[in-house]
Amino acid sequence: MNHPELTLTDRRFGQTRRRDVWWVQPLAVFLGLSIFGLYATWAVFQGDHYHHESYLSPFYSPLLFDTHDHNSGHSWFAGKPDWLPLWFSPAILILWAPLGFRFTCYYYRGAYYKAFWADPPSCTVSEPRKGYRGEGSFPLIMQNVHRYFLYLALVFLVILAYDAWTALWFENGDGGKSFGIGIGTLILTGNVIFLGGYTLGCHSLRHLVGGIRDRLSGAPIRRTAYNCVSCLNRRHMLWAWMSLCWVGLSDVYVRLCSMGILSDWRIL
Ligand code: FES
Repeated sequence: MNHPELTLTDRRFGQTRRRDVWWVQPLAVFLGLSIFGLYATWAVFQGDHYHHESYLSPFYSPLLFDTHDHNSGHSWFAGKPDWLPLWFSPAILILWAPLGFRFTCYYYRGAYYKAFWADPPSCTVSEPRKGYRGEGSFPLIMQNVHRYFLYLALVFLVILAYDAWTALWFENGDGGKSFGIGIGTLILTGNVIFLGGYTLGCHSLRHLVGGIRDRLSGAPIRRTAYNCVSCLNRRHMLWAWMSLCWVGLSDVYVRLCSMGILSDWRIL
């Protein structure tokens, strides 16, 4: 049997035979992640307007302590330690965990390798470098910490769910709290739903709940859990973007209410 002779030729960066607009997706990812990254960095270091009444921005949750001139009622410990510099924001202490979870996510890795590192720019599009080290060697082998970030992300999900619960209770003027629903309540609840869809569809969680086993028949609880995670996992990219946009929107909403630019509309 004759085999066709294949020859590998050096192509210059970006060369391809594709005729579709392959560059649109990496460009959109580049813009989306850059905008979010710049905004999140500013919001984290800003250290102000992170709460409004019963609402707490997810960028600052869990709130370990308030900044010097705040008493939000959301903080776990009283007062910011005096030895911390004035500019030090409580968000710095916690945001590395959700950001690390996203940074090491299997979906985001594929997306930002293309969008930021052009490695490759897209499928069958020539890349700028000749060697390939992959994720089996340093530094990208470090991406394997994703499964540990998953455990932290699950804890954060519970904390954010508690924040959504807290957002149902408003000061009633006589020192107590009464039940209510504002636009902020819906936004913070939506944040938990979208983050839940993203986190619970994680590839590492899928492996953990069922993928680790050769056979799932005979393990009905595992099989149900595996099917549920698989169901969310099928739309992992969609959940990733919806949750990213929504967490940013949640911070913007709480911030604008706190600054007095928006007034929270109370539905109930
Ligand atoms: S693979 Fe995306 S969150 Fe785990």
